[in-house]
Amino acid sequence: MPAKGEMLYEGKAKKIFLTDHPEQVIVEYKDDATAFNGQKKGQIAGKGEMNNRIASIFFKLLEAKGIPTHYIDTLSEREMLVKKVKILPLEVVVRNIAAGSLAKRIGWEEGTILPKTVVEFYYKNDDLGDPLVTPSHIDVLELATPEQLNVLESLARDINVYLKAFLSDKNLLLVDFKLEFGIDSDGNILLADEISPDTCRFWDADTREKLDKDRFRRDLGSVEEAYEEILRRLGGLTR
Ligand code: C5P
Repeated sequence: MPAKGEMLYEGKAKKIFLTDHPEQVIVEYKDDATAFNGQKKGQIAGKGEMNNRIASIFFKLLEAKGIPTHYIDTLSEREMLVKKVKILPLEVVVRNIAAGSLAKRIGWEEGTILPKTVVEFYYKNDDLGDPLVTPSHIDVLELATPEQLNVLESLARDINVYLKAFLSDKNLLLVDFKLEFGIDSDGNILLADEISPDTCRFWDADTREKLDKDRFRRDLGSVEEAYEEILRRLGGLTR
């Protein structure tokens, strides 16, 4: 097991630590929850452990499908070993069903099945409130090259296909999700950050019950139970 070094970065839901290996870092998942660009703050009991397990399951699945990810190993209840990358300042959002900001932006009722998959890019910038950006904005801001953007969109669409099929077997709808990518020391684009109920919308396929962070954002209650239910359906609940 690599030795944990000093903290490199603390985000809203995770801390990143250096290790004794120059190209590997440790992600520590926190129970802290934020929404609306940090305006709403709280804690979800056990979230760090649950998201670490859920994200591990998704990263392993995607690696097995040939998607390059930063995932190396799950080290402990809250800790994951990952490849060190330079995160691209972009959030890639993939949507199958209208919800959240898309429902507002295009005026479609939440729950409307989208006739085509929608892919969006947002500029990761807290001061600007993470605005939606076009490929032309991304080019002028030099957030990614047009070639990198094509790779991101293509990976995001492939990831959607794999996750949707996997979740459908668990009677879950993948409404939408957010991805972040990074560049490793060899210049490879890797899927990074996390995939969890913090970053995805999951609905029960029969009841359309929300089993994700919208329960926290919208004060719907039973937040911990929803995360635990996702972990249980993914087969990761050992207790
Ligand atoms: O809020 P919006 O509808 O744009 O969110 C789309 C998807 O992206 C949701 O699954 C949400 O959880 C995720 N997201 C995220 N981090 C953000 C913004 C959105 O994980 N900063």
